[in-house]
Amino acid sequence: MSSNTYVMAIDQGTTSSRAIIFDHGGQIASTGQVEHEQIFPRAGWVEHDPVEIWTNVREVVAFALSSADIDARDVVAIGITNQRETAVVWDRHTGKPVYNAIVWQDTRTKAIVEELGGDAGPDRFKDLVGLPLATYFTGPKVKWILDNVEGARARAEAGDLLMGTTDSWVLWNMTGGAVNGIHVTDVTNASRTMLMNIDTLDWNADICAEMGIPLSMLPEIRSSSEVYGIVRPAGLMAGVPVAGILGDQQAATFGQACFEKGMAKNTYGTGSFLLLNTGTTPVRSKNGLLTTVCYKIGNAPTVYALEGSIAVTGSLVQWIRDNLEMIDDASEIEGLARSVDDNGGAYIVPAFSGLFAPYWRSDARGALVGLTRFVRKGHLCRAVLESVAYQTRDVVEAMNADAQTELKELKVDGGMTGNELLMQFQADQLGVDVVRPQVAETTALGAAYAAGIAVGYWNGEQDVIDNWAEGKRWTPKSGNGECARQYRNWKKAVQRTLDWVD
Ligand code: G3P
Repeated sequence: MSSNTYVMAIDQGTTSSRAIIFDHGGQIASTGQVEHEQIFPRAGWVEHDPVEIWTNVREVVAFALSSADIDARDVVAIGITNQRETAVVWDRHTGKPVYNAIVWQDTRTKAIVEELGGDAGPDRFKDLVGLPLATYFTGPKVKWILDNVEGARARAEAGDLLMGTTDSWVLWNMTGGAVNGIHVTDVTNASRTMLMNIDTLDWNADICAEMGIPLSMLPEIRSSSEVYGIVRPAGLMAGVPVAGILGDQQAATFGQACFEKGMAKNTYGTGSFLLLNTGTTPVRSKNGLLTTVCYKIGNAPTVYALEGSIAVTGSLVQWIRDNLEMIDDASEIEGLARSVDDNGGAYIVPAFSGLFAPYWRSDARGALVGLTRFVRKGHLCRAVLESVAYQTRDVVEAMNADAQTELKELKVDGGMTGNELLMQFQADQLGVDVVRPQVAETTALGAAYAAGIAVGYWNGEQDVIDNWAEGKRWTPKSGNGECARQYRNWKKAVQRTLDWVD
C-alpha cells in the first residue's frame, strides 16, 4: 500500500467529536476536534443536540484534512467509533431528531427500568442480552422518548422514525441521510442497547415489544469491519467507503491489540471502562460485570468481553474544576495532589449517575467522607485521583472472581493516563503492571484498523500487533498493607453512598 494513503477515524465521543487520520504505520497524521454542549435540563438528565454533533463531525473532518494538507482521495476508508448507549431518534423523511440525544449518563429512565424488571428484578433480561436493567442502556431511553414526546409513538408505529446510537446517526447522515442514508449499527453498539440477543446477535423481538419499540425503527446489525456504504456524492469525503464501526471502548480494546483471551485494557475518559477479552463464547458475570461483544471482524467468529463500566472518573476532575471551581485547569490536579503526602483521611465516591459496575445502584449518590479540619485542597485532589484507581480495583476484583484467574497486567489509555501519580497509584492498588502504549489514541486507532482491514489496507490483527509499541510501564511499589488499608476505607465510603436515601 502506498505510503501516502491514509485511514480516517471519526470518534464521536461524550464531550467532543474528533477526526483522526492515521498512516499505514498506525501513526497520527492529522487531528481535528470540536467539543459539543452538555445539556443538563434537570438533576440526573444529560442530553446532546444530534444536529450539533453532525455539524461538528463535518467540521472536524474538514479540519483534519486541511490542516495536514491531505487530499480526501488519499483516504482509503473511514471508521466510526462512538460514545455508546446514547440514544438518538429521528425522522427518516426529514432527518430531524424528534428530541435531543439522551446520553448514557442520564438517569431519567429509573422508573422505566424498575417497572421492566418487575418481580424478577434487574436481572430479568440478563441471560438474553448480557446486561442488567439499568438507566445506562439505550432501549429504555428510546422508550422514554416514545412515551414522552408528543406524537412520537404514532410516528414510530407508522414507520416514520429511526433510532440509533451516535454511530448510526453519523453513518446515516454521511451516506445520504433522508436520500438513501444507510441505517446500520455494528454488533458492539447493538450489544449495549438491551435489545440484542447476545448469543445470536439479532434484535430480540420480545424485549423490543416489551419496551414498545417497533422493529422498523432499528438499524441493521452488521459486523465491526466491512464496507457499509460510501459517503454521499455531495459530501466532503465523497465516494470514500465507511468500513468500520466499533463502540469506543471496544475500539480501544482492538487498538490496544487485546486479541487474546485474558488480555484487558482500561480507558480513562469521562468515565472508565475496563474490558477483558473472554474469547469466542460469552461469559455470564456473577459479579456485576457486563457481557458484551468485543468485536467481530467481517465473517470471523465474534469475540466477546466482560466489561466493568465506571460512570465517573475524568468527569470528576471536570466537576471540581467547573462546579466547585477548586482548580482552573484539569492539569493542575496532579501538582496539588503531590503537594501532600496522602489523602489526609478523605475519600470521595463520585456516584453522580448512581454507581455502575459492579454495584449497579442507580439510587446511590456521591459522598465525601473522612473529613477533619486537617483536610486541604491537596488532600481532596488526591482523593479525586484515588477514587479513579479504587473504582478500577472494584471492577478488577469482580473480573478476577468471574474469570477465576488473576489479571496479569493492565493496558491503559485515555486522557488521565498522562497523570503519573494516578498511574503509579493504580499499579500499587492492583498489584500488577500498568502499561501505556506509545500511540495513546487507541480508540480512534481501533476504528481505523477495523475500517482499514475491511478494505485490505491492513491485513488483519497481526498488523495491529506489529504496530503496537509500549510507551510507559508502572510497576507496583507501595507495600501491600497500606494499599489494603486504603481499599478497606474506600469500601466503607462506598457503603455510605449505597445507604443514602433521598
Ligand atoms: O459507555 C459509555 C462510553 O462509551 C463513553 O465513552 O469516552 O465518550 O466518555 P467516552
